[in-house]
Amino acid sequence: MCGIVGYTGPKQCVEALLDGLGKLEYRGYDSAGIAVLDDGGITIRKSEGKLARLLELVGREPVAGTCGVGHTRWATHGRPSDANAHPHKAGAVAVVHNGIIENHQALKTRLKAKGRRFDSETDTEVISHLLDEYIQEGLSLAEATRRAAADLRGSYAFLAISDKEPGTIVGARLNCPMVVGVGDGEAFLASDLPPLLSHTREVLFLEDGEMVVAAPEGVHLTDFAGTPRIRKPQHIDWSPVMAEKGGYPHFMLKEIHEQPRGILDTLAGRMLPDSGDVFFETLPLPDETLKRLRKVVIVACGTSWHAGLVGKFMIEGLARLPAEVDLGSEYRYRDPVVERDTLCIPISQSGETADTLAGLREARGKGAVAISICNVVSSTIARESDGVIYTHAGPEIGVASTKAFTTQLVALYLLALHLASARGTLSKAGIASHLQELSELPRKIEDVLKREAVIAATARKFKDATDFLYLGRGISYPIALEGALKLKEISYVHAEGYPAGEMKHGPIALIDERMPVLVLCAQGETYEKTLSNFEEARTRGGRMIAVGTEGDTQLREKAEEVFLLPPCGRYARPILEVVPLQLLAYHMAVLKGTDVDQPRNLAKSVTVE
Ligand code: M6R
Repeated sequence: MCGIVGYTGPKQCVEALLDGLGKLEYRGYDSAGIAVLDDGGITIRKSEGKLARLLELVGREPVAGTCGVGHTRWATHGRPSDANAHPHKAGAVAVVHNGIIENHQALKTRLKAKGRRFDSETDTEVISHLLDEYIQEGLSLAEATRRAAADLRGSYAFLAISDKEPGTIVGARLNCPMVVGVGDGEAFLASDLPPLLSHTREVLFLEDGEMVVAAPEGVHLTDFAGTPRIRKPQHIDWSPVMAEKGGYPHFMLKEIHEQPRGILDTLAGRMLPDSGDVFFETLPLPDETLKRLRKVVIVACGTSWHAGLVGKFMIEGLARLPAEVDLGSEYRYRDPVVERDTLCIPISQSGETADTLAGLREARGKGAVAISICNVVSSTIARESDGVIYTHAGPEIGVASTKAFTTQLVALYLLALHLASARGTLSKAGIASHLQELSELPRKIEDVLKREAVIAATARKFKDATDFLYLGRGISYPIALEGALKLKEISYVHAEGYPAGEMKHGPIALIDERMPVLVLCAQGETYEKTLSNFEEARTRGGRMIAVGTEGDTQLREKAEEVFLLPPCGRYARPILEVVPLQLLAYHMAVLKGTDVDQPRNLAKSVTVE
């Protein structure tokens, strides 16, 4: 997501901060800024857009000081703008922050009641106000941070400086990374290793619930209760490129492994599993409008279209609303009938895909109301919709979409529950049990990722196959499509996704002893039927690969390779099923030696027809 840097020591800090932000550019961002502390107080320079604009600004209006913090922002709460760019200053304090403060609305209300004025739409600004509030009560910056940590819910890594404590930077971490580089009479702080590596290789990784107080005299770690955490810095010998990828060989693999985090962030602050409530602050449509809806039209391309196909099951099954799913490139030219009270849901990671945008314009032009699902804040599709649900996957750099897809599915699941609640098709208790299912997903995906070696071995076994068939039924059919697309686009191996029940109407002719057939047959409503399709392929000599549910001994006996998933409900199942398929495509591509992150002929964002 966003990037954080900090420096304190004998040198002027601006160069180290700007250079550090440059090393975080690969993460994607839409604004940048620095705060520098010297005898005269804190000076901030920040600007929407790329780092070059901040460099220009600092060139025009220079700042000096030996202690400071910097930030590259990937917008989550509040559009990209100068005002929303970090650092955020309140009184004596300036703060840079990564993550999401889930209870920022409640804290804002509390702070406003004390007369505090907010200058941005961000969740971050509550941190600077909280710290300033506590400092005004007489606490040190470290004490104020400790106290604020007890107020904050959600995920964060933040750095704070105060004009009352020159030379000191305080950092805190909960569910977002933070690293401290320990130099000789100086300290470097960052959300990631790349900014540190040209200065020092001796680093301390903060753990969740830990704080750091950094000054030229030394670096001190404590937990949030103030108990010292004493450990030696680690020596890091990663190359800068390895560091950008978090030690993973490719962005795609890093992003596959970021899925539990992305899902947690997409759920954060939007649901109360105990009471069965779902809410979106960026959805200004009253329940009355949602109640009146008669139809849903989902428009998307590529992987996002596959998410839409799953979304249809969720919306029809949970909110009992008829839903149709169209490819952007088809919808725009077919002169669609848009009835009264139609909800259009454009889905797009980038929010800039030309065909999806055209589909959205077509539907709205004919009277539909639109709620988009986008990953990039303030992208064109988000801006042109009546409401938007942001997936908080963070920047996706690999061309093959992975974490954007699973977070889209989570957003669709939440939206379907929100519609179900407004339309009265599910009880609060019913919604609560779905929310429970959602909240268990990150842990279950972690479990799947831990067994990556099984998939890597499957890839080795099938690396010379030239064609694959992926089969799935019902809500798993789009996952068969997505698995096949992943394999095609990064390993250049031909793969076909097919509804398992439809195979006997044609593709079964392709099956022989050279054809790997991957069947999605986790336990669920179509398990028995899918198993019959599995048998049909097996008896034709197909080399069977099964994705099933833990404890399924039948599959172990019948398939050449089996990958078993933790048990889960119907609507969470596709979100788990896709993970081994992403890993299979990834490992096949690595074995083939293709360019995993930038496959030939493909672009990350397709802004032309
Ligand atoms: O940014 P979008 O989600 O609108 O992009 C849509 C497709 O171009 C995209 O999903 C594409 O299919 C990916 N390469 C799939 O991995």
